[in-house]
Order: sequence, then C-alpha cells, then structure tokens
Amino acid sequence: METQSRGHLRGRGLLLTLITGVCCVHALEMSTGKIPFLEAVNGSTVLLPCTYASCIGITNLYFKWEYNDNGTMQKLVDSVIPTDHVKANKVMVYHERVAYFGTIKGNNISILLYNVTFEDAGVYSCFGKNPKEKGRNHTAYFTLYIVEELRVIDNTLTIIIASCVGGSIAFLMAFMLIKNFTLFVLAKMEEKNKECLVTSSGIDNTENGLSGSKSTPKKA
Ligand SMILES: *[C@@H]1O[C@H](CO)[C@@H](O)[C@H](O)[C@H]1NC(C)=O
Ligand SMILES: *[C@@H]1O[C@H](CO)[C@@H](O)[C@H](O)[C@H]1NC(C)=O
Ligand SMILES: *[C@@H]1O[C@H](CO)[C@@H](O)[C@H](O)[C@H]1NC(C)=O
Ligand SMILES: *[C@@H]1O[C@H](CO)[C@@H](O)[C@H](O)[C@H]1NC(C)=O
Ligand SMILES: *[C@@H]1O[C@H](CO)[C@@H](O)[C@H](O)[C@H]1NC(C)=O
Repeated sequence: METQSRGHLRGRGLLLTLITGVCCVHALEMSTGKIPFLEAVNGSTVLLPCTYASCIGITNLYFKWEYNDNGTMQKLVDSVIPTDHVKANKVMVYHERVAYFGTIKGNNISILLYNVTFEDAGVYSCFGKNPKEKGRNHTAYFTLYIVEELRVIDNTLTIIIASCVGGSIAFLMAFMLIKNFTLFVLAKMEEKNKECLVTSSGIDNTENGLSGSKSTPKKA
C-alpha cells in the first residue's frame, strides 16, 4: 500500500514537470541545442547554433553573439528582429570570419565561423533580450574546441576493443570446441571402456542374460 501511494505521488510530480516543461517556456529562453559544444578541425567552417523562444511573446528581440576572449567579451554580431517582419533585420557583423546564418521562421539566430584557428577555441554566448518582458534577458553558451585532426585514437581504441572482444569470443569458441571435443573423445573413450566393461561383464555374466539384453540398446 505504502509503495503504491508513493508511486502515485511520483507519477503526479512527473506529470507536473511534464506539463510545465512542454506547455510553457515561461520567459525568454535562448538555446544552443542539446549538445552545446563542438570539436572542429582547424581551417574548417563551423555553425554556432542558437534559437530563441518565449511563451509570453516577443517584440523586437535584441540579440548578440559574443566570444569570451580570456575574460573580455568580444561582440561578433548583433541585431534587433522586428516583430512585424516587414523590415528586414539588419544584422551587424563585427568579425571578418563571421557570417549571420539565421532564419526568422525558425527563431534561428545561428552564425557561421569560417576558417577556424586554434585561437577561436573557447566559449561563445548567444544573448537575447525581450522588451515585451520588461527587458528580460537570457544567455546560452556554446563551446568550441579546435583540434588538429578528428580523433583517430578513438577508432583505434574501438578496433582494439572490437578485436579484443572478437578475440575473446574466438578464444571462447575455440575453448568450447576443444572442451566439447575432449569431452566427446573422453565420452567415446568411456563408452569404449564401458563397452569393454559391458562386453567383458557380459562375457562374465553370460549365464545371467540380463546384462546382455541391457547392453544391446546402447550399441544401437
Ligand atoms: C591545422 O594545424 C596543423 C598544425 O598546426 C597544420 O599542420 C595544418 O596544416 C592545419 N590545417 C589547416 C587546414 O589549416
Ligand atoms: C589570459 O589571462 C591570463 C590571466 O588572466 C593571462 O596570464 C594570459 O596571458 C591571457 N592570455 C591571453 C591570450 O590573453
Ligand atoms: C577561408 O579560407 C579560404 C581559403 O584559404 C579563403 O578563400 C576564404 O576567403 C576564407 N574565408 C574567410 C571568410 O575568411
Ligand atoms: C538554423 O538555420 C541554419 C541555416 O538555415 C541551419 O543549418 C540550422 O540547422 C538551423 N538550426 C536550428 C537549431 O534550427
Ligand atoms: C539582464 O537581466 C537582469 C535581470 O534579470 C538585469 O539585471 C541585467 O541588467 C540585464 N542585462 C542586460 C544586458 O540587459
């Protein structure tokens, strides 16, 4: 009974969080995706993703992308997205290797960073401010890692693991086969021995007749 009621409560709690989670993003929320980091090879071009949402509604959202350059924030782009969608939103770009890559339809304010260098590694922030919510603001972060080449070690590791697993399986199978074979041979030998014993005992007990009839179905 106790566990049942506790389960009931837990279920209600889950339902509440589901309702609040699915139904309403109460206030302005910026998002850099479920996986807010990326490992990129130097020289490649990367997408820094960001979207925004608010249950209350948004008027003339101000947003900016910044790069945390060792403590000092370096502005990359900023703009106001007009609510009427009549005026085109002019996005100011402050970095020579950055391009705005957003789409108004998807509330998407992503940017592209071209030809990344090792100095580009670090934390990028996507900031949004909604005048409709009395200037309420929110920031989402995206971390960029720059590597010389995408991990090869992982592959070799998987290969090692795979071969290890494969090897052990093969070993196990070989062991089983050998074991079975030895058991088979042993059984055969035992059978022969038994046969010998039976026949010998049969010979011994010919007068009995019983053991002789017992041994015949074994041979068949
Ligand atoms: C990336 O960096 C390595 C090491 O500095 C260099 O050899 C390579 O040419 C660079 N690749 C690109 C595409 O810039
Ligand atoms: C970053 O800051 C640390 C200390 O705050 C300093 O020692 C380092 O030189 C700085 N690096 C750059 C690239 O400015
Ligand atoms: C990126 O690098 C390529 C090749 O070096 C160059 O042609 C291109 O203009 C660069 N793009 C930017 C935005 O710097
Ligand atoms: C944002 O728009 C860009 C360009 O259209 C697209 O590549 C990216 O997947 C979009 N991101 C999200 C989160 O919708
Ligand atoms: C963001 O909102 C906080 C209050 O939530 C406020 O103190 C801060 O000044 C705001 N920042 C900007 C840049 O508007």
